[in-house]
Amino acid sequence: METLNHAKVTRVALVGAGAVGASFAYQLTTASLCEELVIIDINKAKAEGEAMDLNHGVSFASSPMRVWAGDYADCGAADIVVITAGAPQKPGETRLDLVEKNAKIMKSMIGEIMASGFDGMIIIASNPVDIMTHLAWKYSGLPKHRVFGSGTVLDTSRLRYMLGDYFNVDPRNCHAYIMGEHGDTEFAAWSNARIYGKSVEQLLEENDEYTWEDLEDIYVNVRDAAYHIIERKGATYYAIGLGLLRLVKAVLRNENTLLTVGAYLDGEYGLHDIHIGVPAIINRQGVRQVVEIELSEEEKQKMHHSADVLMKTMQPVL
Ligand code: LAC
Repeated sequence: METLNHAKVTRVALVGAGAVGASFAYQLTTASLCEELVIIDINKAKAEGEAMDLNHGVSFASSPMRVWAGDYADCGAADIVVITAGAPQKPGETRLDLVEKNAKIMKSMIGEIMASGFDGMIIIASNPVDIMTHLAWKYSGLPKHRVFGSGTVLDTSRLRYMLGDYFNVDPRNCHAYIMGEHGDTEFAAWSNARIYGKSVEQLLEENDEYTWEDLEDIYVNVRDAAYHIIERKGATYYAIGLGLLRLVKAVLRNENTLLTVGAYLDGEYGLHDIHIGVPAIINRQGVRQVVEIELSEEEKQKMHHSADVLMKTMQPVL
């Protein structure tokens, strides 16, 4: 649809009106990033309720956005489809435990989305997100730069928050990445980290109150954060919702910004035909490039172990 000045109306389609999808949708209404949001869910009443509730707040937002509960046909005119639908982790369940049931759901959703004539970008958050992203890419037939996952974007944000707290500095000055599976085999790329411009080694040399043991504890808390939140409130949704908003903004604002998304590897880090959490430049085209940062030997081994676990888990559903 074109407006009077023939400017393109930007539409985001959200598949999944559960806690994560609703959190993303709510944050999207406050972000002035697009003119339209269509919410699709197998539970139509839930999608309608979310749309109604969001529309009633649009007059408070900085710019209007039309929100409605739609169906897969509405994806045809969408620029970006964000997929959050799928069974969520239960207390004590790992993300990889969800693979069988969510693979079936993903196959069905992608089939419906592509039948609408959709030819935009797909961003996946459904867990296990790296495997779901790979399946979504395979089922969609879209180019590899236009299907990516939230990957370790949330884990990296958790790490930056905890490092900011530990070193008493703005998390935005803590440049450190979590890479690999969004899950139990993820790892912190400490060798590449720069905290207010200093390496971890420098900081530990300059101040003996900082220790590797503390940093290992921070990594463990990042890795296990979702379990700790789920056992307390039943699910996680605010931070992942913000993470999805960050990805959509990087695309729609053509930012060329570096984020640790679940991107397709075609030889980078010595890995092939897998989606996994890596630093990548994100812009209007999607994944402009995967960035191969220097990793220590130990970090390279952790990356390959993580990839091996993902490949092994994915085999039965490929
Ligand atoms: C978490 C979910 C999004 O880590 O996997 O909170």
